[in-house]
Amino acid sequence: MSKALDGVRVVDMTHVQAGPVCTQMLAWLGADVIKVEPPGRGDVTRSQLRDLPGVDSLYFTMLNSNKRSLTLDIKQEKGQQILWELLRRADVLVENFGPGALDRQGFTWERIQEEAPRLVYASIKGFGPGGYENAKAYETIAQAMGGSMSTTGFEDGPPTSTGAQIGDSGSAIHLLAAILAGLLQRHQTGRGQRVQVAMQHAVLNLCRVKIRDHQRLQHGPLAEYPNQSFGQTVPRSGNASGGGQPGWALRCRPEGPDDFIYVIIQPHVWERLLRQIGREDLLGNPDWDTPEARLPHLDEVFAMIEEWTSQHTKWEVFEQFNSIDVPCGPVFDTGDIVADDSLRESGMIVEVPHPERGSYLNVGCPLRLSDSPVEVRRSPLLGEHSAEVLREVLGMGESELQAIHDQGVI
Ligand code: COA
Repeated sequence: MSKALDGVRVVDMTHVQAGPVCTQMLAWLGADVIKVEPPGRGDVTRSQLRDLPGVDSLYFTMLNSNKRSLTLDIKQEKGQQILWELLRRADVLVENFGPGALDRQGFTWERIQEEAPRLVYASIKGFGPGGYENAKAYETIAQAMGGSMSTTGFEDGPPTSTGAQIGDSGSAIHLLAAILAGLLQRHQTGRGQRVQVAMQHAVLNLCRVKIRDHQRLQHGPLAEYPNQSFGQTVPRSGNASGGGQPGWALRCRPEGPDDFIYVIIQPHVWERLLRQIGREDLLGNPDWDTPEARLPHLDEVFAMIEEWTSQHTKWEVFEQFNSIDVPCGPVFDTGDIVADDSLRESGMIVEVPHPERGSYLNVGCPLRLSDSPVEVRRSPLLGEHSAEVLREVLGMGESELQAIHDQGVI
């Protein structure tokens, strides 16, 4: 079956997490993603957090599936010539080096526009224009400066980073949307364009509701927050839902570290919920009956429900609450995730064979397109496709391939 991005060629100069996640999705959607890596070493993550000696790490394999690998030294003149040739034949260039890294090798936006006017040139940097522009960034730096850390965690604890990689993978998803829009616009204009996402901006976009609450706070306390007192800025609010309906993580049997279920109280399921947990005595009680009456003592409300949930496992509560239409979700630990049948059936946890490490688990593609199914294929070995790409895309002959190999260009 054809793929959504059939015929789209991507020169992938990404490394670490933010860039590779974006280009992996482009590859899953059918683009020919050619990952350009420094000879000898490759993407630094190939050797970071290794679990098996001498074998590409899971860090690398899980972010680089469905790509081809071309080693190319872009600090050598011949390497730069080859990169220019590739860019002239490509639709998209993606990179996430530190500020100015490609410019220093002569690959400026001005020159790219002249040499490859149809190219969509996409970048992730830590920051946008302004005071932080020249600073490097990693995941947690973006979380710190995008509003996530100060609003995550409990009131009496320090600012906390999330397990979800919203700075890296979150930026990647934003960049994917921007690249696809750039390709669509090219149909109208015939021109490529510069496409950029700053990690700080992506995190802030995901923290949008906290800026909503910052402005609400100027007019009084935030009633749906569990906090007792408020200052001038949005406090950390633990596991409060942050939305219009209150929610909390409630302890379950046998009270292990992840034996919790997250329960949301919708007004129209309140009566059913009380009957399920055997608290019909509260029906009609004006202190408990309406969302407004419950709001000032939500801690008591959730403690009362927890008395019941703590007598059951999170799976039992999930089943019973779902049977009465109460929105809830057991807290999945990583073991629950990899063992979950529905995640396996839907292709979100897939087993991928690899010639050097045996098979490994990859998190699949959450984008579902009826005409463009995703098959997750293993990540490439370093330089596995160098000769293939240079022959196929640039029409390079065997003697030239041998020569640039001997010069250490590939
Ligand atoms: N051949 C030769 N050299 C290559 C190359 C190739 N194929 N590909 C990259 N390089 C060189 C670059 O030219 C650059 O060299 P220079 O510094 O001498 O100009 C270097 O490799 C990469 O530099 P940089 O990206 O600054 O690496 P770093 O390890 O110091 O910093 C980050 C890493 C992630 C902090 C930085 O890349 C960054 O801030 N990126 C943008 C934000 C981002 O994506 N962060 C999230 C990462 S998950």
